[in-house]
Amino acid sequence: MTNKPTKATITFDNGAAPIELPILSGSLGNDVIDIRNLSKHGIFTYDPGFMSTAACNSNITFIDGEKGLLYYRGYPIEQLAEHCDFMEVSHLLINGELPNATQKQEFTRTITSHTMLHDQLSNIFRGFRRDAHPMAVMVGVVGSMSAFYHTKGDIHDAQSREITAHQLLAKVPTIAAWSYKYNIGQPFMYPANHLNYAENFMHMMFATPCEQYVPNPVLAKAFDRILILHADHEQNASTSTVRLAGSSGANPFACIAAGIASLWGPAHGGANEATLKMLEEIGDISRIGEFIKRAKDKTDTFRLMGFGHRVYRNMDPRAAIMRKTCHEVLNELGLNDDPMFKLAMALEKIALEDEYFVSRQLYPNVDFYSGIVMRAMGIPNSMFTAIFALARTAGWIAQWSEMNADSGHKIGRPRQLYTGETRREFVPIVKRT
Ligand code: SDX
Repeated sequence: MTNKPTKATITFDNGAAPIELPILSGSLGNDVIDIRNLSKHGIFTYDPGFMSTAACNSNITFIDGEKGLLYYRGYPIEQLAEHCDFMEVSHLLINGELPNATQKQEFTRTITSHTMLHDQLSNIFRGFRRDAHPMAVMVGVVGSMSAFYHTKGDIHDAQSREITAHQLLAKVPTIAAWSYKYNIGQPFMYPANHLNYAENFMHMMFATPCEQYVPNPVLAKAFDRILILHADHEQNASTSTVRLAGSSGANPFACIAAGIASLWGPAHGGANEATLKMLEEIGDISRIGEFIKRAKDKTDTFRLMGFGHRVYRNMDPRAAIMRKTCHEVLNELGLNDDPMFKLAMALEKIALEDEYFVSRQLYPNVDFYSGIVMRAMGIPNSMFTAIFALARTAGWIAQWSEMNADSGHKIGRPRQLYTGETRREFVPIVKRT
């Protein structure tokens, strides 16, 4: 029997009547104070950045920031990364359960048979300059899918939502790989459907029509694990963007494009690209102190990229798995002395011993090592966030589907604390000084 509180009371220092609010409990994590009826009392809560606000209830992913735990549908990320592949994890996120052998075969066959793009879509890439950032291309091309694949879909129908999920999971890798091919001026490589999901993406990225390309199985497995680690993460900025866009009933492909746009920011999914740029700028272990000093200097906008997290007040469990994957890939490629990896490990050690980072509970996050792994695999910096978006499409579509399956969900419409001008009368231009 726990003595957890079941309601909270707001009292006011001017003698106004107190307000009683129910406290709701989930299956794991913090309880929440239900403030849905608070506005009827003529008052709002104020929480820019949503530091203390639960925007929805969800059954998909759970994070314990204090303990550094991450569960997808209750399964610890360490076990999924060790024993599953991305198709199994995508099925888990979208359908709520790990597939049995038959379900996995059917799910994989469905995804594999939808990897091609409508041929007209290939023309949209050509509207971009060749040097366009792959994320700019992905926002545009994924958004344009709403003109090709969702003309008749009903977001309130479970089967229609499932078809949308399959189309996105299947086609976003092709779009991501073609964004890269377009950028480097090579011909698009069509999906090779005898390959698995990770191998097929590597084929579309690195194969050319001129030579036989066989994906390295160790690198393909490592890439598949990177997809698993990035697949979902509760109500982060980009997932919240997908949910907010979707809450108006908007086209799901347009909602995923909005998620891609939000993920692109260096404070979010763009941090992997920014981390590698930072490591390249630091260049040598001897310069780490200079950058640590800058990261602590409040007059300097520089932040240690790949460090810190809104939720984790402990090591991001994904970072530890990513570091291990880093070792495996560098070992496979005979790059154990990779200077960037050595620099990253030295930076991690120094930062984790520095009072500034320790007192603020700033630890490496998923983006700290992912760039090093992908760079070692021959993936250019500019593609790191595109690959994050590829992986997170599984989580975004699972969260979008969960929201639309709840017939009681409302359009998201936050309020504000208004601090502007109070009422004033119009002044004709001839009287304005
Ligand atoms: C992802 O939300 C998710 O789940 C995201 C993600 C996912 O899978 O979807 O996990 C993926 O986005 C990981 C985070 C990647 N971003 C970076 O690595 C960029 C660098 N990190 C920071 O920008 C920052 O840590 C954030 C944005 C990640 C979190 O910022 P918060 O929660 O708003 O924290 P804050 O800005 O309030 O910082 C608290 C203190 C401040 O100092 P004080 O004002 O207390 O003196 O910590 C400092 C900050 O200045 N701080 C940092 C820092 N991060 C926080 N100082 C230096 N370097 C940093 N990286």
